[in-house]
Amino acid sequence: MLRKETDFDLTGRNTFGMKVRCACFVEYDSEEDLRTLDFNSLPQPVMPVGEGSNLLFTGDFRGTLLHSGIRFVKYVDLGLDDVYMAVGAGVIFDDFCHRACEAGYWGAENLSLIPGQVGAAAVQNVGAYGAEVSDIISGVVCYDTVERKKVTFKGKDCRYAYRDSRFKGEDKGRYIVTSVLFHLTRKHSPNTAYKGIGEALGGTDPKTPQQVREAVIRIRRQKLPDPCETGSAGSFFKNPVVSENRFRVIAAQARENGGEEVPHYDAGEGKVKIPAAWLIDRCGLKGVVERGAAVYEKHSLVIVNQSGDASPDDILALEKRIINEVDARFGVKLQPEVEHI
Ligand code: EPU
Repeated sequence: MLRKETDFDLTGRNTFGMKVRCACFVEYDSEEDLRTLDFNSLPQPVMPVGEGSNLLFTGDFRGTLLHSGIRFVKYVDLGLDDVYMAVGAGVIFDDFCHRACEAGYWGAENLSLIPGQVGAAAVQNVGAYGAEVSDIISGVVCYDTVERKKVTFKGKDCRYAYRDSRFKGEDKGRYIVTSVLFHLTRKHSPNTAYKGIGEALGGTDPKTPQQVREAVIRIRRQKLPDPCETGSAGSFFKNPVVSENRFRVIAAQARENGGEEVPHYDAGEGKVKIPAAWLIDRCGLKGVVERGAAVYEKHSLVIVNQSGDASPDDILALEKRIINEVDARFGVKLQPEVEHI
């Protein structure tokens, strides 16, 4: 069934808690609903949204937001080791992780507690603790708004990269994800290489995905704000990839300032990825307040709606300050991870 509202209040529909509105909000429950929807009659532009957990509304939205209410979970193929789960785009992503872990299927446990819906997770290629959702995506079923028909992409054809996919790039706006086919396994296959995970498990080999899930949840609760209590959109910036030369300059600077090692990861092709949180931290920006907005005191990659009624301009002012200060000190231009609308 289609539910349509005009001049819709988005305050409870974005985890940042921005007090903004949209001209039209449409919720649909099936692909059939999308087929019957007259896109041209809706206020433009038309944009799909999930739970608004990775968005910053910079003002009222003059167009239409489409929200998925497709909430089925089906076990498609239960082989000896392999398990395929087809999950509607409107299912809360962590509900899927919870069900998979509870059933003893490996693959989704490191992604536990990531906010948002399944469809949005597949668009953004969400990731955490050494895993990306693209690692377990076998296929993505979409509604093509141009050809007005169903289309299925294999995982390898979704052009997945760090927090990126074809659905965010050249095909933005064309495809609406209706469901995702996940490939999980019963075979004991914990992914505990990420430093914090091994530590949270006390160096023991986890027997079940549920054990890893619990460790991930403990870490996330320590480091990241609870979206029900403090408005934020998780990591605000992407971790930048810099040239080896730039990395050497930053490493030398850190050595001069007290001998600290710069955390970094090999990004291939002679490039190095540095945690944006570390760069922001070393600029002394952790905890700084800009009117209603602040850099979260437990993790500097997160901008929070500190006062509870921060405006989009407060967040944007803090974003600009962080970008400028990190650039001035390290010569690195941070890119937002959060989508600005
Ligand atoms: N660090 C600091 N100061 C801080 C926090 C971290 O210096 O306040 C440094 C530490 O050296 C730490 C390193 O940054 O070792 C990395 O921190 P963390 O492990 O928390 O990961 P991250 O790179 O900051 C990324 C994702 C998170 C994800 C974590 C864990 C991005 C943009 N963010 O953060 O994803 O949970 O890894 O895997 O890639 C999100 O996308 O919303 C998100 C929360």
